[in-house]
Amino acid sequence: MSTSKTQPDIATCPLHEVDTFSAEFLQHPHPFYRRLRVEAPAFRDPKNNVVYISTYDLLMEVLAKPRIFSNRFGAQLRAGAAGGGMSSEELAILAKGWVPKDTMLTADPPEHTRYKKLAGKAFTYKKVIGMNDYCTDIINDLIDAFIADGHCEFKAQFANLLPMYVICDALGFPRADRARFKEWSDAFTLQLGGVADMPTRIWCAEKIVEAQHYFVAVCDDKRKAPGEDICSDLVQTDLEEEDGSTRKLDNEELISIIQQILVAGNETTSHTLTTGIFYLLTHPEQMARLQEEPGLTANFVEETLRMLTPTNNMWRVATQDTEVGGVKVKKGDLLLLRFGSANRDDAKFPDGDRFDIRRDNAKEHLAFGAGVHLCLGQQLARKEMQTAFPIVLERLKNMRLVGNPEEFRYVPSILLRGVERLELEFDPA
Ligand code: HEM
Repeated sequence: MSTSKTQPDIATCPLHEVDTFSAEFLQHPHPFYRRLRVEAPAFRDPKNNVVYISTYDLLMEVLAKPRIFSNRFGAQLRAGAAGGGMSSEELAILAKGWVPKDTMLTADPPEHTRYKKLAGKAFTYKKVIGMNDYCTDIINDLIDAFIADGHCEFKAQFANLLPMYVICDALGFPRADRARFKEWSDAFTLQLGGVADMPTRIWCAEKIVEAQHYFVAVCDDKRKAPGEDICSDLVQTDLEEEDGSTRKLDNEELISIIQQILVAGNETTSHTLTTGIFYLLTHPEQMARLQEEPGLTANFVEETLRMLTPTNNMWRVATQDTEVGGVKVKKGDLLLLRFGSANRDDAKFPDGDRFDIRRDNAKEHLAFGAGVHLCLGQQLARKEMQTAFPIVLERLKNMRLVGNPEEFRYVPSILLRGVERLELEFDPA
C-alpha cells in the first residue's frame, strides 16, 4: 500500500487519490483528517478496501460494539493487511517459535475479559499512585546523565528510557537488555501496522521469535525463583476457565500478555513525553502559562495526548455484514479507527487543531481508546508523564530546540505517532 510517489494536492483532490499509508502523508495527516471528518466520516478507501472511521461520534459508536467490530485482527495483519498471506520464509522463521494466543488487544470478550482481569492486577490505580518516588528517582538519574552537557537528544536519552525502565522493572526484566526490547517493540509494532514490505516482515519474524524465546526463558526462571514482578505473578496465577475450573497459563498465553505489556507502554509514552516538550517549545505562550501555573500539568498531559494521539490509528475487523456512517461493511472487512482524527473533531473539541493546555474537556480524548479495550496502562502512563514534565522543566533551564521546528519529522508509522528525534539545548548544570 505504501508508495514513494508524490501526493496529489490533499486539499482538493478526490479523497481516494490520497495514499494515507505513504511516509509523506504520515508527516502531515491532519489536513486530510479534517476533510475526512467533513466529507466522509466513514470512508471506504478503494485502494485497499479498508474503511476509515474519522469522527468522534462515529468512533464511539464503533467502540461500543466490540462483538460486531472485533479486535481479532491479529492473524489478518500478521499475513499483511494488503493480503497475500505469509511468505514461506516468514513461516519457516515463525515455526521456530510459538503461535501466540490472542489475549488482550487482539481478543474479544469473553476471553479478552479474563486475560485483562489477570494482567490488570499489576496496574491498579492503587499500585500506580504509590510510584511517585520511584518514578522521580529514575527521572532524576536520567537527567543527571546529560545535564552537564547542555544538550541532549531528548527521545533517546530520556523519553525512551523512562517507560522502558518502568516496564522492565514491572515485568522483572533486566534493564541492561533494553536495546533488544526496543528492537522487539519495533518488530511487533511493524507487524501490527500490516503494511511492511517483505524484507521488513522477515526481519520482524526473526525478532519476534527471538523475543518469544527470551520471554519463555524468563518465565521458566520465575517459576523456579519467583520475584516481585508481573512475570512471576503470571506464571503462578490461575486462569479461570468458563466452566469454573482453573489452570496455569501456557507459553502461548504468557508470550502474548508479556509482549503486549512490553510493547504497548513504551513507544506511546515515549512519544508523548517527547512531543509534549516539542509542543511547549513551539508554543511559548503555553510554556509560560504552565510555568506560571504548575497546577495545569495534569491538563497539559491530557491536551498533549489529545493533540498527538500516540496510538493514532487502530484496527477492527467486522464479524458480520453491517453498516457504519452510511457505508456498507461486509463480514471480514478491516476498519481503521482514526483516533488521531476523532481527537481533533471540532464538534467535540472546539478549534480542535489548537493546542491549549487549559482546554476544559481535554481529558475526554480517545487517546487511550474507550470501551472494553480501554488502555490497561493509562494510569501508569499518566503517573510517569505527570511526574516527568515538571522535573524536566525545572531542571533543564532555558530549554531550546536545535533546528527548525518545521523540519522535525514524525515517525513514519501507520499506528503510532510522535516526533522522531528531539535535539535540545539548555543551560548546563
Ligand atoms: C501514552 C501512553 C499510552 C497510550 C496513548 C496508549 C493507548 C492505548 C490505546 C488507544 C489502546 C486501545 C486500543 C484499542 O482500542 O484497540 C490501548 C490498549 C492497551 N494498552 Fe495502552 N497506551 C499507553 C500506555 C500503556 C502502558 C504504559 C501500558 C502497559 C503497562 C499499556 C498497555 C495496554 C494494553 C495491554 C492494551 C490492550 C488492552 C485491551 O485490549 O483491553 N498501554 N492503549
